Amino acid sequence: MAKLGKFKVLDHPLIQHKLSIIRDKNCGTREFREVVNEIAELMAYEVSRDMPLEDCVIETPIAKAKMKHLAGKKVVIVPILRAGLGMVDGILELIPAAKVGHVGMYRDEKTLKPVEYFVKMPDNLASREIFIVDPMLATGGSAIMAVDALKKRGAVSIKFVCLVAAPEGVKALREKHPDIDIFAAALDDHLNENGYIVPGLGDAGDRLFGTK
Ligand code: PRP
Ligand code: URA
Repeated sequence: MAKLGKFKVLDHPLIQHKLSIIRDKNCGTREFREVVNEIAELMAYEVSRDMPLEDCVIETPIAKAKMKHLAGKKVVIVPILRAGLGMVDGILELIPAAKVGHVGMYRDEKTLKPVEYFVKMPDNLASREIFIVDPMLATGGSAIMAVDALKKRGAVSIKFVCLVAAPEGVKALREKHPDIDIFAAALDDHLNENGYIVPGLGDAGDRLFGTK
């Protein structure tokens, strides 16, 4: 039987402090971009906590010693375009050898359904540990479609990492893909009639890239 994924809110004080900075409507593009990356970096520390280690032998300047290094699957960071791009550099600070795949998707403003427009992945996804990143998990439609796209290409080990999640999106993603782990910096209250997270932080893509 496939493992049951977990949902975890990473409520570290530094993460919560930085999240309050970017929630503020007066936070400008430059600061928003910087702080999104900082939060992503802090989250990567927790998200990678269960990475397997294996024994190795190291010769220090003093002696030979049995130590540990990372074993197993190599990480692929997969931002959902556009807003997911804002989290990539922060995670690469911690995991610089990670490969980066891209899933291009936008939410139709009327139907709120995601529309896929681009997918480019490294080869051999089945042997890789995948972190899908997107600041916002709202209805869950984009996340579900991104996981579908990756599973269709052979991915089996997937974590979804977002900054702000709505209960509706967490429920939908867990129902459709119960095997994946979901990490959020905050679980907010609800979605409004336009599908925005309340209180949320507005349109993450527009705030990152200075568009309207
Ligand atoms: C936003 C966000 C997610 C999606 C979340 O992207 O970055 O990808 O909406 O909403 P959902 O959970 O209801 O699918 P958007 O479609 O605005 O595109 P953008 O990143 O290009 O701004
Ligand atoms: N996408 C965003 O960028 N913000 C929301 O609140 C919901 C979807």
